[in-house]
Amino acid sequence: MGGLLGPGLAFGGDYNPEQWDEPVWREDDALMRQAGVNLATVGVFSWALLEPEEGHYSFDWLDAQLDRLHANGVRVDLATPTASPPPWFTLAHPEAMPVTADGTRLTHGSRDTYCLAAPAYRRAAARIAGALAERYAGHPALAMWHVHNEYATVCYCEQSAAAFRVWLRARHGSLDELNSAWGTAFWGQRYGSWEQITPPRATQWHQNPGHLLDFRRFWSDEALAAYTEQRDAIRRHSGPRTPVTTNLMLPGYQVIDLWAFGREVDFVGIDHYPDAPGVDAGADTAFGADRARSFGGGKPWLLIEQGTNTVHTAERTLAKEPGDLLRHTLGHLGRGSDGALFFQWRQSKAGAELWHSAMVPHAGPDTRIHREVVALGAALERLAEVAGSTVAAEAAVLWDADAWWALDTNGMPSADLDYHATVRRAHRALWEAGVTADFAHPEHDLSRYRLVLAPSLYLLSDAGAASLRRYVEGGGTLLVQYFSGVVDARHQVRTGGYPGALREVLGIRGEEFRPLATGATAALSDGSSGTVWSEDLRTEGARAVLRYASGSLAGRPALTRHAFGAGTGWYLSTRLDDERYAALLARVLEECGVAAEVPGLPPGVEAVRRRGPLDGRDTGWLFVLNHLDTPVQLPGITAGRDLLTGADVPGDGLRLAPGGVAVLREP
Ligand code: GAL
Repeated sequence: MGGLLGPGLAFGGDYNPEQWDEPVWREDDALMRQAGVNLATVGVFSWALLEPEEGHYSFDWLDAQLDRLHANGVRVDLATPTASPPPWFTLAHPEAMPVTADGTRLTHGSRDTYCLAAPAYRRAAARIAGALAERYAGHPALAMWHVHNEYATVCYCEQSAAAFRVWLRARHGSLDELNSAWGTAFWGQRYGSWEQITPPRATQWHQNPGHLLDFRRFWSDEALAAYTEQRDAIRRHSGPRTPVTTNLMLPGYQVIDLWAFGREVDFVGIDHYPDAPGVDAGADTAFGADRARSFGGGKPWLLIEQGTNTVHTAERTLAKEPGDLLRHTLGHLGRGSDGALFFQWRQSKAGAELWHSAMVPHAGPDTRIHREVVALGAALERLAEVAGSTVAAEAAVLWDADAWWALDTNGMPSADLDYHATVRRAHRALWEAGVTADFAHPEHDLSRYRLVLAPSLYLLSDAGAASLRRYVEGGGTLLVQYFSGVVDARHQVRTGGYPGALREVLGIRGEEFRPLATGATAALSDGSSGTVWSEDLRTEGARAVLRYASGSLAGRPALTRHAFGAGTGWYLSTRLDDERYAALLARVLEECGVAAEVPGLPPGVEAVRRRGPLDGRDTGWLFVLNHLDTPVQLPGITAGRDLLTGADVPGDGLRLAPGGVAVLREP
């Protein structure tokens, strides 16, 4: 079966040969061959070398590098260099430098020194993308196009303001509509002309939530337009057989609407750097991978960047233990990635990322890390047959950029409401239950899922509310968590009782939120207690499964269950501790008939399945990962051949060493 970019799995990383010279290139060739590298991401930040003066290109060096890679059997993921404009660009177009919310104009000397909305930048970016495509579309090494690098910057300058006004006119049509949508009657914020509207720059006190939300939507659309302009410039020269994509930023960054990007890229590519060791890294990897698969609508996708070892962040650098490289990579592959790329091939000895790990470390190839890289290359060759296979899920977690952006504004009833953390926790609870989950948008057709979780879905559009209603009516099980469905797409409260958009489906009516102080608890009728949030809630058709047990809420429902149409709507009005949350999910999963991939695995052991045709037969590949530092024996897994070792699973169950892994072709 074919993979995303040809037969087998992609393996390699960012390759920045311009940092080195001939003897090093020769060593790179030999080492790449030895490691089985078959894909190199080239040119990500090379703009100053490719266009040393405005409109004057210098392609000879890149010709030579691509020819050399090709001769060595390495295909190329050719990047447009637009995340790092050259110094001449800044001097010629100072107005295109980004401005922060407090009005500071940033200067040259790093990367991402541009405003995405600046016409001069956009023209220059589309031009270099087109020039690259014209030159290299027919190059035999070319496997894919990599537009830009991690769309993640925001700018509040005058050019952003101008573009924002154009966007607002298109969205709202008239100033009256805008004033009404943003509720500018409050605090006397009424706008009398479009020119009066600026990006939401630093203010004295709370900003207008509708204004903030619209700016984030605008910015995401602007980033997407910047992407599609480059993509189209490439497409004018490069045929449809060479896919175009970009590398999406880590899950915690929320600057773009990933569903929208998922629609425009030929396949989804992500960067992923787990920020915690051990089991947490396993959960985090699954979170990133499930998102990547979901944004692409279930297509195979590609891990474009990960680290071999230390990743420098502002706070610390996290070292990988022996074995992590293979296990983290398999965490992505098991969830659908058709390969594994790293940042970067050879560790820099100068420049801003000199302490970021690489496939060839400072100490050279005779190192633990490089040996693990070579072993990983060999492992990926043994796994070639899984390329192109897919992952199916029966459960989904709702994820919506609008809901995140809306919740992420000032003036919320509790500082402990954290969209990303709440979504991550819901996904993690499913991961710990051994259940593979997709992410989905509330407006998607959800009917293929037996269970849908709605954590912190603060903003819910009318279409989203109707979709969730259809889903439950049609037989689905929906578990909604507190502070969901309370505002509409304009960021205005749905009045008449909480959670406005979902009251009927959930059979409840909330009168009053009772956020809990940090560390405070609300006693519950089963002897446990909730934190963060509580509510004064009545049932209107639902059944109270748990009640508050003390204070003025004593006797009021805390957890409810409502039979609605052919399905069930659950509502959880407080934050349960990990154990009770897991128990609630276990109950709901059982009720709606969603089983773990492999029931009964010990906590910290992960199993996930890809499926696809092999020799004309539907085949399953079970990825089993032991994130624990102790060995495990798994009596629940008694059949299959481990592609990594060639051994059949013994009848008394698969054994895995501490940190060990297996990829079983199922009989
Ligand atoms: C990524 C980025 C790379 C490199 C890497 C380091 O976010 O795309 O260029 O900076 O981080 O972790």
